[in-house]
Amino acid sequence: MQELIKVQNVSQCYQKGNFFSKKKHTALENISFSLKKDRNLGILGKNGAGKSTLARLLLGLEKPKTGRIEIFGTEHYNPLIKKNIQAIFQDPQSSLNPRFSAKECLLEGIRNFETLKDSNQASKNLAQMVRLRLEYLDKRSAFFSGGEQQRIAIARSIALKPKVLILDEALSNLDTHLQMQIITELRELQKKLGMTFIVISHDIRIILQFCQEIIVLHQGKIVFKTDIEEGLQNAILRDKNGFFKEICNANLFHQF
Ligand SMILES: Nc1ncnc2c1ncn2[C@@H]1O[C@H](COP(=O)(O)OP(=O)(O)O)[C@@H](O)[C@H]1O
Ligand SMILES: [Mg+2]
Repeated sequence: MQELIKVQNVSQCYQKGNFFSKKKHTALENISFSLKKDRNLGILGKNGAGKSTLARLLLGLEKPKTGRIEIFGTEHYNPLIKKNIQAIFQDPQSSLNPRFSAKECLLEGIRNFETLKDSNQASKNLAQMVRLRLEYLDKRSAFFSGGEQQRIAIARSIALKPKVLILDEALSNLDTHLQMQIITELRELQKKLGMTFIVISHDIRIILQFCQEIIVLHQGKIVFKTDIEEGLQNAILRDKNGFFKEICNANLFHQF
């Protein structure tokens, strides 16, 4: 099975505190895992567990203090690698320029990599992909609802046809109905474009919608990992230490 990402013994720490008392805070400690093609990986953990730190490392926005991250077989983040690993975060508002029209937002990413022959058609295709109404394309992004903004952010990333798409709590701010709609759309897009997802969430229900493998992060450490081919539901049943139960809403376990 092709390994898209290989993370080996990665740790990350930050300085916390003020001028008078600085403390070293370990956000990630000795993390190892791999992402295999077409095996979506869920990263489950409570607030502050280190999930977004891991996302930033995978995107090459930060370098790990120690350890190795190999993306598509290399440790070097060249532009082609960056194009092929995209992310969508929780708060689309902060990632969209409020002065840009929806069309400009949609094409923002892809314009860094290619010259578009017909930008009107390209933006229409992208809008259709995420079911954004075409008459919205000239409206400024600030006027859209949270769900519409998230759709724009999704289409902007997908325009690049990345091999890996990271969803970092990307659906957390949406109501359940909208979550289900966007989950369905993302799964369709995944099939069409052959992307592999990393789904970061504190909510196992979201992870179960997408993933075949899972790691659980707790205070910067991996405390649980699925074995290859074990299946997610068996792994959860194997969880003797109760990590899932502690992190997730206990009600969920009635399903298993
Ligand atoms: N740039 C930073 N500077 C200082 N501390 C940070 C920084 N980024 C993250 N942290 C700390 O690292 C820990 C993990 O944060 P984060 O990765 O955002 O967790 P999560 O996404 O799981 O909620 C938290 O205690 C957070 O305060
Ligand atoms: Mg986070």
